[in-house]
Amino acid sequence: MTRKLFVTTALPYANAAFHIGHMMEYIQADIWVRFQRMLHHEVNFVCADDAHGAPIMIAAEKAGHTPQQFVVQIAAGRRQYFDGFHIGFDNWHSTDGAENHALVKDIYRALRKNDLISTRTIEQFFDPVKNMFLPDRYIKGECPKCASPDQYGDNCEVCGAVYAPTDLKNPFSALSGAKPVLKTSEHYFFKLSDPPCVQFLENWTQDGKLQSEVANKVKEWFVKGDDGQGNSTGGLADWDISRDAPYFGIEIPDAAGKYFYVWLDAPVGYLASLKNLLDRRGTNFDTYLADPQLEQVHFIGKDIVTFHTLFWPAILHFSGRKVPDHIFVHGFITVGGDKMSKSRG
Ligand code: 2FM
Ligand code: ZN
Repeated sequence: MTRKLFVTTALPYANAAFHIGHMMEYIQADIWVRFQRMLHHEVNFVCADDAHGAPIMIAAEKAGHTPQQFVVQIAAGRRQYFDGFHIGFDNWHSTDGAENHALVKDIYRALRKNDLISTRTIEQFFDPVKNMFLPDRYIKGECPKCASPDQYGDNCEVCGAVYAPTDLKNPFSALSGAKPVLKTSEHYFFKLSDPPCVQFLENWTQDGKLQSEVANKVKEWFVKGDDGQGNSTGGLADWDISRDAPYFGIEIPDAAGKYFYVWLDAPVGYLASLKNLLDRRGTNFDTYLADPQLEQVHFIGKDIVTFHTLFWPAILHFSGRKVPDHIFVHGFITVGGDKMSKSRG
């Protein structure tokens, strides 16, 4: 029987050229795709640039470009790598394309209709000079545990402590140097902790489709406990899917000044790239996806397992769409046992 396969690799952020980790994943997936084609199976193998988010917006500003211009320039440098490494993607698109804007809004409206969106007010650090809420990575200060200076808002690179940005001593904005102030804002959440959602994910992640190591890791995230003072801990928490302007992303319908968090729109980019390809071929996207024989296959690295085994299948399922059939997870390229890392040189 001919298999029908829709295959993707993780979408790279559109802020830099490829590195060896990207090429390793593309080569791995390309080998698998070539093998399926040799067996006469039908494959659509797609990817795209992951264009949105605060780091890209900030990098574009530094380079003196609009975010749109910036990501187009990055995309223009991709071709030589595909040709040089003989990677045979059928399509390369962008999460800032019109297809993604439309699909993300459709998915959100369906989730809202199914009562899976909630709002609540949260308090975050705000840069009074740049006039924007600061992502954790853009807040620096002294580690609350070991007092090392110049540590990021989410963890200390000296002692390894993990904390909230509000725990930092003498915090400052990495963008302007200003002392951040606490400010409230209404955020939108996907109700991942809703019992039907938890039930769906417990089944979906443990029904044998994931590699056993991955399934075991994922199981830990469902375990609930208590802190000994009557408060429950662990288990799935609702997912904050909104960011306030200024933000380079997709606007949330009926919510002025609010944008979808980049990780909500990024995986939808898999579908958007497929739609862009099928539209150009004159094939109906909805009919293609509705084929019960179609297998949806994602190749990813182990650092993004939460997004692909919790949020992604949940938003697809509860918006009435097809869920992935296989998630193939690879490890990191290591040097002397440590992750090979650009930031560590
Ligand atoms: O971790 C990353 O590099 C992300 N840009 C991967 C996104 S994969 C998919 F969800 F879009
Ligand atoms: Zn420390």
